Amino acid sequence: MGQLTREQIKINKVKTSKIDSIDFNNLAFGQVFSDHMLTCDYIDGKWQLPQIEPFAPISLMPSAKIFHYGQSIFEGMKAYKDSNNDIFLFRPLDNVKRLNISAKRLAIPEIPEDYFMEGLKALLNIEKDWIPTKEGSSLYIRPFTFATGEGFHASPADNYKFIIACAPSGSYFAGKVKVLIEEKYSRSANGGVGFAKAGGNYAGQFYPTQLAKDKGYQQVIWTDDTTHEYIEEAGAMNVFVRINDTLLTSPVSDRILDGVTRKSILELAKAEGIKTEVRKIKVSELVEAAKNGSLKEIFGAGTAAVISPISGFGFRDQDFDLPEIKDTFGEKLKNKIVAIQTNKTEDPFGWRIKV
Ligand code: COI
Repeated sequence: MGQLTREQIKINKVKTSKIDSIDFNNLAFGQVFSDHMLTCDYIDGKWQLPQIEPFAPISLMPSAKIFHYGQSIFEGMKAYKDSNNDIFLFRPLDNVKRLNISAKRLAIPEIPEDYFMEGLKALLNIEKDWIPTKEGSSLYIRPFTFATGEGFHASPADNYKFIIACAPSGSYFAGKVKVLIEEKYSRSANGGVGFAKAGGNYAGQFYPTQLAKDKGYQQVIWTDDTTHEYIEEAGAMNVFVRINDTLLTSPVSDRILDGVTRKSILELAKAEGIKTEVRKIKVSELVEAAKNGSLKEIFGAGTAAVISPISGFGFRDQDFDLPEIKDTFGEKLKNKIVAIQTNKTEDPFGWRIKV
């Protein structure tokens, strides 16, 4: 099988675009969707050719296995447009590879890399006008695969659908967030699916997060499932901690997602001369550092929010506020990463890909 060419992608465009109804100056995150989507079906044991079609409802049988056994995985990416109207992606192959790592774990067939990349590029060329240019906004891209094949037998489906949908989006969080260190519920476990971007990983967070919200926090800091002594992730993001002038994050594992933003921050921080450490971080170390003033920053890192500063954390019945400091590592690294993403600076790492 040769490489997929653009000409092999069937395109069915909308008759009338809805773009004029969108207020690009007041975009929420992931609430409005562009005119088209890429779709690709896995039927008869193979991925069929991808197509671009209007963003519209899809029809599924109630017996489709996605509804029963949650065979569903996704990615999060962003597209940016510079003042020359050129389109850029950020480390897109990392997302393709991770989608296929998730696919393997959920017994979903892997999508050929060229179907994903050629399909996405073709889609972005059609949706170019949907890429916002206002500071802090971008076109959030959601590639996902789910089981369309039918049956109540608890086994992998025969058929699947891969879709790429796009949402012109503003910031994920409005401001700083206050987090609760969670000791009862777990996001993931050894040997589980925590490293995968499986839909169910997120559904499992909603209830404990709601309990934290009821107590006045916006997010949860997940701890390891066996001892609850170590911090692992912040909500749906990786987590970074600055103690004195060292930036720390937990190592990826079975339980922790290998975030593209996470690894970019680590490389960028090193290039900026910031000392980094990838190691397990004890909750007690965090509490101690908060008490003695050496804890300077905590932030979440992910594609959607890029870097999301945390104002303080709750642990058991105590709240710890972080100091208001100037020139935070979080802000500095976020500005750098966004400048690379949006083609406002050199990209010595080769992360930015022109579409
Ligand atoms: C992302 O940061 O893109 C994520 O996948 C988090 C998502 C739940 C919004």
